[in-house]
Amino acid sequence: MKKITVIGAGNVGATTAQRLAEKELAEEVILLDVVEGIPQGKALDMLESGPVEPFDTYLKGTNDYSDTKNSDIIIITAGLARKPGMSRDDLLIANADIVKSVTEKSVEHSPQAIIIVVSNPLDVMTYVAFKVSGFERHRVIGMAGILDTARFRTFIANELEVSVKDVDAMVLGGHGDSMVPLVRYTTIGGIPLTEFLSKDKIEKLVDRTRKGGIEIVNYLKTGSAYYAPSSAAVEMVESIVKNKKRILLCSAFLTGEYDLHNVFCGVPVRLGKEGILNIVKLNLLPEELNALKKSAADVLENIKKLKI
Ligand code: NAI
Ligand code: 2OP
Repeated sequence: MKKITVIGAGNVGATTAQRLAEKELAEEVILLDVVEGIPQGKALDMLESGPVEPFDTYLKGTNDYSDTKNSDIIIITAGLARKPGMSRDDLLIANADIVKSVTEKSVEHSPQAIIIVVSNPLDVMTYVAFKVSGFERHRVIGMAGILDTARFRTFIANELEVSVKDVDAMVLGGHGDSMVPLVRYTTIGGIPLTEFLSKDKIEKLVDRTRKGGIEIVNYLKTGSAYYAPSSAAVEMVESIVKNKKRILLCSAFLTGEYDLHNVFCGVPVRLGKEGILNIVKLNLLPEELNALKKSAADVLENIKKLKI
């Protein structure tokens, strides 16, 4: 892939652009924001790190959508971030307007792009981008599950003093308090987590994962997480750009999978050069499926508030 555009040059957007360049996942990375000067300054600063890192990806900051023309991937991080006391859903209306407008302008210049949405509330904003773009569902994907899973994996690795590389986990559902960490699919070196930790201990780690976003917000006070979120977005890009066909947790538009309809929700998907190659179907236990349905119902409730 040649060109990737990151919309929003804030914490997540700028860090994402930097990681994309450092991994040379595109020939050109465009960083766009409404604020004049910020994307230009950040992109130039990153570009000047190229000789030292080193990387050859060209970075350009802009306020002009014509610079994004013919992007292969568009990553939407524009919007307001969470502040202490603010839920992801508080962001709903404000960010829906922003995501609607940036999607319209982006797809006008890049009708063939794959869109990755990061803005919150994630599953609802991905729905907005999907509806506004008119793209097929395999080209509009939300980033959250990789982040939630990474948090769960981190907490498990720290608790057991094992390498994070050996911890595999699965967090389904919407990116909110009702997300569904699946303990049954969580393993360390292929061994079920339940063989290492008591039910109580696991429940504490699950709870910390559900509250992983707010834990960071409470520390930062002026914004929300961006190092791990940008890593997660870049992992999606890498699987697409290199056509790796990795199975990753992403928010996808469901049309009957898991008995869910017309809603974006975190599920395992195979990601390749066309975007979502397929949605992976797990044989969930009734209580797991019910938890997923409850989480999707929370997303649906917010979608309905938007009248889109
Ligand atoms: P930030 O406040 O640092 O950056 C947001 C940027 O968007 C700002 O530079 C702002 O000027 C820009 N922006 C606002 N309206 C715009 C428009 N119409 N067009 C272009 N740019 C516009 O926020 P941060 O930390 O980068 O977070 C961005 C979004 O990502 C937030 O909604 C946040 O909640 C969400 N997020 C989602 C995560 C997930 O797991 N899906 C994880 C972390 C953040
Ligand atoms: C997070 O989980 C704020 O949704 C963002 O860190």
